[in-house]
Amino acid sequence: MSVTIKTPEEQQKMRVAGRLAASVLEMIEPHVRPGVTTDELNTICHRYIVEELEAIPAPLNYNGFPKSICTSVNHVVCHGIPGDKRLRKGDALNIDITVIKDGFHGDTSRMFLVGDGSIQARRLSEVARESLFVGIEQVRPGVTLGDIGHAIQSYVEARGFSVVREYCGHGIGQVFHEEPQVLHYGEPGTGLTLEPGMCFTIEPMVNVGKRHVKLLADDWTVVTKDHSLSAQWEHTLLVTDEGAEILTLRSDEQIPQLSA
Ligand code: MF3
Ligand code: CO
Ligand code: CO
Repeated sequence: MSVTIKTPEEQQKMRVAGRLAASVLEMIEPHVRPGVTTDELNTICHRYIVEELEAIPAPLNYNGFPKSICTSVNHVVCHGIPGDKRLRKGDALNIDITVIKDGFHGDTSRMFLVGDGSIQARRLSEVARESLFVGIEQVRPGVTLGDIGHAIQSYVEARGFSVVREYCGHGIGQVFHEEPQVLHYGEPGTGLTLEPGMCFTIEPMVNVGKRHVKLLADDWTVVTKDHSLSAQWEHTLLVTDEGAEILTLRSDEQIPQLSA
């Protein structure tokens, strides 16, 4: 399969799936507190997705993934498996939600700082979020994927942090991960040129220390090799004639004002 262009009907289904995925992050926020386990958060999200949204949690059984959401704490980069670990004040947690509604996927993640987090966690999370929006600002017809990756990489590295290279954003639609791969680093003017009707995610993973990662023995959990803190934010986007429509924007979400 190559890159799909969504028809207006398909775009409407992507809007619905995106809004539902965003609503899960809105719903779970008050539950993210010291003492809760990531498996309890998984259960709450699973029930909400299935019973309230009448949707499917895409991660469950995806290539054997055992839970309905991903929970990645502190030096976990992505794909953390919910378990009986209790969150503590100071932890930095990413919750990554993907739902399927009417056959289409919505995929989004955000950081939560438990009990306000550390100064370093707050700064890392802020830069990671800003870097997502630096990427989103690039999106319009005629721009290349390399332009997006370059903008993200430059923004992050200028602030002393590093960008993970082994995992990337992705095309999305009736398939969870479809073409193209959306790298969060690269060279301007290279790679695929964007066209209206494309849908993909941008989901930069940003580390305090070096960019290198390793996979744990559970074959899912990705951690920083140097055990430094890592943060990630993700949105699902539709390329429009003018720019990007953020399909997973939360109702209270402010778009950051960015300096170059
Ligand atoms: N939601 C992740 C992404 O942004 C993928 C999770 S795959 C899983 O692409 F199997 F770990 F759930
Ligand atoms: Co994704
Ligand atoms: Co995701």
